[in-house]
Amino acid sequence: MNVPLVDLKAQYTSIKEEIDEAILEVVGRGQFILGPEVEAFESEIASYLGVKYAVGVASGTDALQLALLACGIKPGDEVITTPFTFIATAESIAKCGATPVFVDIDPKTYNIDPEKIEQLLKSKTRPKSESKSKITALLPVHLYGQPATMERILDIARKHNLKVIEDCAQALGAEYKGKKAGSLGDAGCLSFFPSKVLGAYGDGGMVVTNDPEIAETVRILRVHGSKTTYRHVMHGFNSRLDALQAAILRVKLKHLDRWNELRRSKAALYTQLLSRVDGIEPLYSEKNCKSSCNYYTIRIKDPRLSRDELRKHLESKGIQTMIYYPLSLHLQEVYKYLKHKSGDFPESEQAQEQVLTLPIYPELEQAQIERIVEVIKHFIKRD
Ligand SMILES: Cc1ncc(COP(=O)(O)O)c(C=O)c1O
Repeated sequence: MNVPLVDLKAQYTSIKEEIDEAILEVVGRGQFILGPEVEAFESEIASYLGVKYAVGVASGTDALQLALLACGIKPGDEVITTPFTFIATAESIAKCGATPVFVDIDPKTYNIDPEKIEQLLKSKTRPKSESKSKITALLPVHLYGQPATMERILDIARKHNLKVIEDCAQALGAEYKGKKAGSLGDAGCLSFFPSKVLGAYGDGGMVVTNDPEIAETVRILRVHGSKTTYRHVMHGFNSRLDALQAAILRVKLKHLDRWNELRRSKAALYTQLLSRVDGIEPLYSEKNCKSSCNYYTIRIKDPRLSRDELRKHLESKGIQTMIYYPLSLHLQEVYKYLKHKSGDFPESEQAQEQVLTLPIYPELEQAQIERIVEVIKHFIKRD
């Protein structure tokens, strides 16, 4: 029994007719960049998330950079984020000319720890502090699909007059206290990378916001800084969502809540089956949140168990796994200039050594999950 990490073919097979029809319609119409399909998708996402504006761009990475720029992040600024995320999060800050300032994670949720944000801000704003704080924004990531502790993060932002940009690349449809991730901060950034819960057949992204100025600036930035054709008010980007992707995503959006519900039930089954397995910590699920369960990640807690050996063992049985993420951003070569060292963010560093992401997708069957857990148990007994 082969179990891939994500099964995009199974999903396509389940909605083939709808997808094929949508693709043919766009091809027949001959409008491929922006246009009515993208506009329709933007307004559907806006109403799905309960926000006023949604602007389609070329990727989740671009969504982050354009949102940061539209929030006024400029060279010399500092933006607080997590070191336990995909590079795009911090890269987007650096590409605005600003500096990523890392704050360690809560080991239970893997998301940025608001208490540590508060501690850092306190130290930076002390009357006798040598350097004046240049922190202008917070960039929390809803990792694996579980919303960060937004209430505390928004409180801190209000107190210190900071913008909040949510990295929702893995969390479309997730909810924090009844509100959709992406609708809570100044801007939310979505990714439609194929393996995401709402995946395109290529790259795609979106910025969502309730702020008309942020929306307007992103609209201008995505088309070379122009408001009207060949009239440029700033340097921008070529970062547009394709009509074909929008058409595919419109079909898929109708299934998203059902798919996320299925993901949550698969995650709950993993958690139930793994909860009494020695040495393994199942994924924690926050009570007041609904995760989109983009990834189901366990921790190998027992130091006597080798994560690499477990991965190899699963692979030998046809089960694909992944490590999200094997090296925290503060230890990446690209951030040498920030002069961090091992031990600076112990929770993130421990997570990078212990996490292992197991297959999860709506079509994954109960028997497959049971088998995966059996293979893990067998490995532990053998070890
Ligand atoms: C947390 C996070 N942020 C940002 C991105 C960037 O999204 P994209 O691949 O669409 O550029 C991704 C996805 O790869 C991600 O997982």
